[in-house]
Amino acid sequence: MSTAPANDHAGTQRNSAVLITGAGGEIGHGLIEALHREGRRDVVALDLRDMDPALKPLCRDTLVGDITDTSLLERILAMYEVDAIYHLAALLSTRSEFVPEAAHQVNVQGTLNLLRLAADQAASHGRSVRFVFPSSIAIYGLPGAQAKAAAGKVREDQYCTPATMYGCNKLACEHLGRYYSEFYRRLAKDRPRGAAARIDFRCIRFPGIISAFTLPSGGTSDFAPEMIHAAAQGKPYACFVRPDARIPFMTMPDAVDAMLRLAGADAARLSTRVYNVGAFAPSAEEIRGIVSRAFPGAADLITFKVDEDRMGIVDSWPADVDDSLARREWGYAPRHTLATAFSDYLLPNIRARYAR
Ligand code: SER
Repeated sequence: MSTAPANDHAGTQRNSAVLITGAGGEIGHGLIEALHREGRRDVVALDLRDMDPALKPLCRDTLVGDITDTSLLERILAMYEVDAIYHLAALLSTRSEFVPEAAHQVNVQGTLNLLRLAADQAASHGRSVRFVFPSSIAIYGLPGAQAKAAAGKVREDQYCTPATMYGCNKLACEHLGRYYSEFYRRLAKDRPRGAAARIDFRCIRFPGIISAFTLPSGGTSDFAPEMIHAAAQGKPYACFVRPDARIPFMTMPDAVDAMLRLAGADAARLSTRVYNVGAFAPSAEEIRGIVSRAFPGAADLITFKVDEDRMGIVDSWPADVDDSLARREWGYAPRHTLATAFSDYLLPNIRARYAR
């Protein structure tokens, strides 16, 4: 593991930083670009792998390492004055089912390590540390396809009985974030008092996210982006869910905007720490229809070869989410509908990408 800081901070004042974990992943790509556009020049990016060379110049520092390595996190604390953390690192839902204990280590223990880092940071500089966390529709667990059809748009407080390790992990982290924000070490005599020296945990339960530029790996909502990217390259694709499978989705730019908007929202307007967001909720067949009209030949290339086990996970996730709280309290307003997601974002960018 190399932590190779860009400069040596020993003996000098710590530099301010916004820390992004899992920074080389799908959301990290979009988030680093957006933070740079917003003028932040103090992004410290942490990932298991060396960062994409295109992103490095947008970061103050890029670190290679593991969030379960507490000595690495201590070094970050020593080097930087962190005022915001976007904790994106996780094993996704399909992969986690093969290695549930490893998923717990990364998804829960890793998050606990970051919450501890944030608490130590807040105590050391005396200001609140904003902790932005992507949770997921995987925290919902509907008992089956029939209940799912009857439930319609699910609210934040319904069906919080996840049926995957990833969903259990994310739900646990939602509660840990709330605990660290409101009750951390509540009986300890030396606990920092006052809102300033605390964590301000804010969390979005994301639906499936579709990017024109990157592909997910190890997720269960991957069938949509995989189908679109395969069709654009003229490759066959066997979709692992039934044609009628339906979950909510959104585009990556809307997901990144949502995180930044929630991060910047006035705390006085927030009645909770956990918000649903969604944008459109097509069935797999509807996605296939749009893709087939966009890419000649795709209709024959896209087939359905249902994996009953992964399908079972999708049947436990809601067909759509009620995101009215997010819209009301912090102005969540996705710019892409299903139609404009394709016409304005996915098709032009994906065509350009594979034409090269
Ligand atoms: N999209 C993720 C997955 O499928 C859920 O958050 O794992």
